[in-house]
Amino acid sequence: MSVWALLVAAGAGERLGEERPKAFVKLGELPLLAEPLRRLEESEWIDAIVVAVPEDWEEPVILLAEELSASKVVAAVRGGGTRAESVRAALAEVPEEALVVLVHDAARPLLTEEVLERVLAPLSEGWDGVVPGLPIADTIKEVDGDRIVATVSRDKLVAVQTPQAFLAPKLREAYAGDLEGATDCSSLVQACGGRVKVVQGDRRLLKATTREDLELIESWIAT
Ligand code: CTP
Ligand code: MG
Repeated sequence: MSVWALLVAAGAGERLGEERPKAFVKLGELPLLAEPLRRLEESEWIDAIVVAVPEDWEEPVILLAEELSASKVVAAVRGGGTRAESVRAALAEVPEEALVVLVHDAARPLLTEEVLERVLAPLSEGWDGVVPGLPIADTIKEVDGDRIVATVSRDKLVAVQTPQAFLAPKLREAYAGDLEGATDCSSLVQACGGRVKVVQGDRRLLKATTREDLELIESWIAT
């Protein structure tokens, strides 16, 4: 089976508030993006990689891939205005014969071989998509402004992460339609009738949103 990984790194990183886009902020010596890129390159599950980057960052990514000897990197494409549009741009580089497409946020650097296996294995058991998820520890409230309207039962809720894996034709079908309001790939696949499974996520797949997140991720790398 041929598995293509789309690494989406085209966000601005507004909440992090650095001068450069989030994927290019330094994590140790190298840009943040280097960590998930190296992990995808070294994974025995991944055959090819497409990276979506902000305008004018295509060349730095190709140079970074060379520096990391990341020979699975096939293309660096310009992303879009939203995450979903960036996924669509990267997906356009995936050849017709690809069987599986895995989509991962560059902002979640600590990808592991175990989580890749967990999301890829069920695709041979009749699922159209598989996502990592974590139970929610906090009590969840529905609000109207600052007034609490209801307490939502946690039992049926999970917080979903990436990498998310899909049968390639299903993901293409999902991305051929309207992308409005989609914050992850699985919601679009579900919206076109796909069956999506949730498997155990990983706390260390934390998305680097703020400076504190980045420092926490750095400390995890060090241990
Ligand atoms: N992403 C993308 N294209 C966009 C927006 C987001 O490829 N137009 C990617 C980001 O690079 C990131 C992932 O989607 O790897 C998750 O997005 P998020 O954490 O929100 O990153 P940013 O959009 O960069 O951050 P912010 O929302 O704070 O600007
Ligand atoms: Mg964003």
